[in-house]
Amino acid sequence: MQILITGAAGYIGSHVVKQLLEETNYEIIIIDNLCTGFENTIKTLNSLDTSNERIKFYNQDLSIWNEVEEVFKENDIKEIIHFAASLVVPESVELPLKYYLNNTANTSNLVSLAVKYGVKKFIFSSTAATYGEPDKKFIPVNETCPTSPINPYGNSKLFSESVIKDTAFANDDFKFVILRYFNVAGADIEEKIGQSTLNATHLIKVAAEAALRKREKMAIFGDDYDTEDGTCIRDYIHVQDLADAHLKALEYLESNPSDTFNCGYGYGYSVKEVIETMKKVSGVDFQVDIVPRRAGDPSTLISDNTKIKTKMNWVPKYNDLELICKTALEWEKNI
Ligand SMILES: NC(=O)c1ccc[n+]([C@@H]2O[C@H](COP(=O)([O-])OP(=O)(O)OC[C@H]3O[C@@H](n4cnc5c(N)ncnc54)[C@H](O)[C@@H]3O)[C@@H](O)[C@H]2O)c1
Repeated sequence: MQILITGAAGYIGSHVVKQLLEETNYEIIIIDNLCTGFENTIKTLNSLDTSNERIKFYNQDLSIWNEVEEVFKENDIKEIIHFAASLVVPESVELPLKYYLNNTANTSNLVSLAVKYGVKKFIFSSTAATYGEPDKKFIPVNETCPTSPINPYGNSKLFSESVIKDTAFANDDFKFVILRYFNVAGADIEEKIGQSTLNATHLIKVAAEAALRKREKMAIFGDDYDTEDGTCIRDYIHVQDLADAHLKALEYLESNPSDTFNCGYGYGYSVKEVIETMKKVSGVDFQVDIVPRRAGDPSTLISDNTKIKTKMNWVPKYNDLELICKTALEWEKNI
């Protein structure tokens, strides 16, 4: 059975490919143009493929639609996990069309090819950014919470969700799972892969860089939020638990209808708590400056994960902030 993974040279996609290699027999077709992903990651994934036959890599931009179609013609793709996207929120405000083209237009084309070539299962990387700034009464956020993104990134993902849902409504054979990720963090426990994103803004990666003196200091954006210690609260999910949710989603679609699921642990940590944890696991007391709030940061974003736990039997294994920080730190030492 062949599965297409877009964006597998990146952070989350590479962890999913590693699990697919370890736990399934899929032949894995990868499309990635390496715009934020790394050729080295593909090399590592190839080295984990003991058969040397299960990975086929296309260095291909999803925006060149006729070339993407060739990949479908050359293979027999029946399942897709679609990670490839642009995902830097402030950039999306400055360059909205980059986001609507790379995220929404390219997803629309991929979905159209999926239907044309008889793909049965489509797993989509969506985001908690689709919820925007949920009212306090909706925290923890479940999947019925109104969606109201506050930036073009969130909009581009929500529009993609509509493309996928409307297509499934009109095509009985095309089924989807939309996974709305909360804050993804940490790295492979075996330290084979991790997050290498350049200029990353993710809190735990930035704190790991500060602990290793790769940056002089780091900032907390606002300590006057309506939370216990005044800093924002987020739901951090270890990347391997998130990867597992994708494997569960493939199984789930064997005998269940299309649906949307939150991916988070259902509880949150403040920015200060995360930084303290990174200082503890690294043993380094790096400098942290309090700077003004950033536009568009909701004070608290925590998932209600009841649905994914009950409907997919997803059981998180790594819901431990110290472990998340430790794995991020160990990976950061490698790069
Ligand atoms: N990292 C997070 O915390 C987070 C949170 C919520 C949702 N997501 C979603 O998860 C997905 C993966 O995110 P990530 O953190 O692994 O990002 P990443 O940047 O590490 O990976 C994205 C991959 O897609 C590739 N890509 C991008 N545009 C492409 C194109 N036009 N053609 C071919 N390849 C292309 C990149 O080269 C990269 O390898 C994204 O869809 C993102 O929106 C991530």
